[in-house]
Amino acid sequence: MSAEPLEIYLEEQDLGRGLREDVRAGLTSTPKWLPPKWFYDARGSELFEEITRLPEYYPTRAERAVLAEHADDVAELTGAKTLIELGSGSSEKTRLLLDAFTRHGELGTFVPLDVSVSALRQSTEQIAAEYPGLRVRGVVGDFTRQLDRLPTGGRRLVVFLGGTIGNLLPVERAEFLNSMRSALEAGDWLLIGTDLVKDPGVIVPAYDDAAGVTADFNRNVLRVINRELGANFDPESFRHVAVWDPEHEWVEMRLRAERPTRVRVLDLDVEFAAGEDLRTEISAKFRPEGIAAELAAAGFARQAFWTDPAGLFGVSLARAD
Ligand code: AVJ
Repeated sequence: MSAEPLEIYLEEQDLGRGLREDVRAGLTSTPKWLPPKWFYDARGSELFEEITRLPEYYPTRAERAVLAEHADDVAELTGAKTLIELGSGSSEKTRLLLDAFTRHGELGTFVPLDVSVSALRQSTEQIAAEYPGLRVRGVVGDFTRQLDRLPTGGRRLVVFLGGTIGNLLPVERAEFLNSMRSALEAGDWLLIGTDLVKDPGVIVPAYDDAAGVTADFNRNVLRVINRELGANFDPESFRHVAVWDPEHEWVEMRLRAERPTRVRVLDLDVEFAAGEDLRTEISAKFRPEGIAAELAAAGFARQAFWTDPAGLFGVSLARAD
């Protein structure tokens, strides 16, 4: 079966408007910031896929190990009919779940949702071809905003992998989990991947790899803004920086102006002092009890928590109460 046409809830204009709003808000703030969702144009999505194969970037491998071990448990415990994946990207690890549901379940529909049209187009076509009989409905959208458009009915399992929830600030996380709970019905399920707190000596290199792929990924947001908004950032005059914040237990990516720099974007003249940082991403790391508490506060009861053998990454399966 071929995939159904993508359902686009993020029109090109919405994307453009959202980018303009974020650029205006972020570049006129102190400190300057940009939200991480703008990394992911076609090139950024490819760079992220490359990151997942780096020796230093353990989260993808660790999460894949968890899913390889427990995908059958997920299929058996949830008995889901509809699988919704938020921030699906290539859906590479999700195949482990689809395989398990093929063995056990009555899964009928797979709904991947992502901001990247290019990533979705590829993944929906491939998955529809590989899983005959599965209905594949790709949705282009922002996972923090399109929760009210999730398909209704049947027993649903929402999966949110990769530790992407760590890109949200704690208040945004709470809002996100609350609106997720409102979008679901009691008895629906949530499977959520979270990177765990560990030695920063392991975390920081995962966000500052020797080959410089993460640096290139980080600078990609400047190329996106140049192309979409006609700005004149010189990406090479910004240095990639990854810092561990021990108080918040998150790693932060920044772009540091190497010299005084002035950028023309929209109707703004944005000045960077030498050494000034533009914050582009936080990636929060979690503690097992903290995740359960955040889920419970939103109305989810955690039924299972699994990690990889080295305890690097955790996957929680929770039921909407
Ligand atoms: C896709 C959000 C899970 O935070 O680890 C990888 C993105 N940033 N390297 C993460 C990312 C830098 C990634 N997530």
